[in-house]
Amino acid sequence: MNNDIQEVLFDQDRIHDAAVRLGKQITQDYAGKKPVVLSVLKGAYLWTADLLREVDLYLDLEFINVSSYHGGVSSTNEITLVTDIRSDIQGRDVIILEDIVDTGQSLLFMKELLAKRGASSIKVATLLDKKAGRKVIIDADYVGFDVRNEFVVGYGLDYKELYRNLPYVGILKKEVYTD
Ligand code: PRP
Ligand code: MN
Ligand code: MG
Repeated sequence: MNNDIQEVLFDQDRIHDAAVRLGKQITQDYAGKKPVVLSVLKGAYLWTADLLREVDLYLDLEFINVSSYHGGVSSTNEITLVTDIRSDIQGRDVIILEDIVDTGQSLLFMKELLAKRGASSIKVATLLDKKAGRKVIIDADYVGFDVRNEFVVGYGLDYKELYRNLPYVGILKKEVYTD
């Protein structure tokens, strides 16, 4: 699996540093509050585990599963709500955790859903921000790293559901993907 990687962009140490940095900021910004952290499966599973261990707050952890890539290398316009949350987020401060913001469409979908359900505030903490990929105007509030407009895998991010277990973020060799 490691042989399919052309270049490592962010290794475990750098990701840990980002988790510490953002964890401190979130701890300060939400001092005295009890936010609901909404982790977006599947991609955000490792980022959620690492970032939240650096956050010193009472918080609720919820998981939502939305899908836009449908296994390929480019995001589709169609966002599917695969698994919803069951708790009530009316009047709550929600922090969405994403592995990557690319076109921004998944995030827009979730922000609209949460706003409709009466969240009192909605912020976003993403490990990676691919600003060149945006199709809608939306921004993350906490960003680990900006990333070039290249297809990245690892640390939660998949290609056809594989590579999520790589401990780093890297660029896949061109010959590995065909579409
Ligand atoms: C990926 C990624 C983000 C989203 C970003 O998830 O994990 O959730 O796409 O893309 P966007 O900004 O263009 O909407 P994906 O749909 O591949 O599902 P997954 O997390 O289960 O892999
Ligand atoms: Mn995702
Ligand atoms: Mg995916």
